[in-house]
Amino acid sequence: MAFMKKYLLPILGIFLAYYYYSAKEEFRPEMLRGKRVIVTGASKGIGREMAYHLARMGAHVVVTARSEESLKKVVSHCLELGASSAHYVAGTMENMTFAEQFVAKAGKLMGGLDMLILNHITSSNNPMTVFIDDIDHVRKSMEVNFLSYVVLSGAAMPMLKQSNGSIVVVSSIAETAMTGTAGIYNAEASPKEECALEIIKGGALRQKEVYYDSSVLTPFLLGNPGRKIMEFLSLRNYNMEIFINN
Ligand SMILES: NC(=O)c1ccc[n+]([C@@H]2O[C@H](COP(=O)([O-])OP(=O)(O)OC[C@H]3O[C@@H](n4cnc5c(N)ncnc54)[C@H](OP(=O)(O)O)[C@@H]3O)[C@@H](O)[C@H]2O)c1
Ligand SMILES: *[C@@H]1O[C@H](CO)[C@@H](O)[C@H](O)[C@H]1NC(C)=O
Ligand SMILES: *[C@@H]1O[C@H](CO)[C@@H](O)[C@H](O)[C@H]1NC(C)=O
Repeated sequence: MAFMKKYLLPILGIFLAYYYYSAKEEFRPEMLRGKRVIVTGASKGIGREMAYHLARMGAHVVVTARSEESLKKVVSHCLELGASSAHYVAGTMENMTFAEQFVAKAGKLMGGLDMLILNHITSSNNPMTVFIDDIDHVRKSMEVNFLSYVVLSGAAMPMLKQSNGSIVVVSSIAETAMTGTAGIYNAEASPKEECALEIIKGGALRQKEVYYDSSVLTPFLLGNPGRKIMEFLSLRNYNMEIFINN
């Protein structure tokens, strides 16, 4: 108890203060005007809403997903909303060659890249049995939901370095899990439009993490203050300049 009072509480206080005072730069929609942005999984759901928000802010967008017909509609609506430009490239993120070539194509269409928003997920009919009896399904999920993210990020890195751009990764307790586990996990699915806007704001302000939830406790708990303290303490032992430059 004495240890806690003497050290832990003050440290926690410092981190909380840092957390609340550091992330207070104001978001302005102009921040996205003329920016070149990729949105994956943009044929429906949160991805599509992000594309529409970006279009309203005057960004260039390239959207992708598997369903070409839906993507066509998303692109034409983006143009109506005021996008500087809007294109789509259809394909599946199960195919890593497609993932890599997609980024190159998008870069060519927009003449570079400022923001890569990774949002697609493979849908699962029965999320609770995935890890029990279907290893092929687990492997496919890992490829679409994880490996393709690595491939896309790697392919985009040279362009993002040139533009001092950013990567935004979306993840969650997905809607499928919410309906699939009704009664186990009790939460309402969040409104997509608002959620999409919060993600874009977080990306534009280069926030390390954004939690979209109505509860004030969620950001704190998911933010994992213990991990942040450990990161802070252990990073002091590294010379990150040398690490990054090599
Ligand atoms: N819904 C929620 O309540 C919620 C809450 C918080 C966070 N999230 C997160 O938000 C993100 C989007 O979720 P969502 O609910 O908007 O999902 P969604 O409506 O199911 O959309 C998923 C998108 O991914 C695409 N996709 C699926 N399989 C693909 C594949 N093999 N290759 C390429 N694209 C593929 C889909 O298009 P095609 O089928 O045309 O390929 C679709 O555009 C996810 O990362 C999710 O974890 C969701
Ligand atoms: C994967 O994508 C590439 C590039 O789009 C394509 O040439 C190739 O045929 C695809 N592979 C499969 C198995 O569909
Ligand atoms: C790149 O962005 C970071 C973070 O916003 C900023 O600190 C840095 O000065 C920028 N660098 C250049 C070359 O614009």
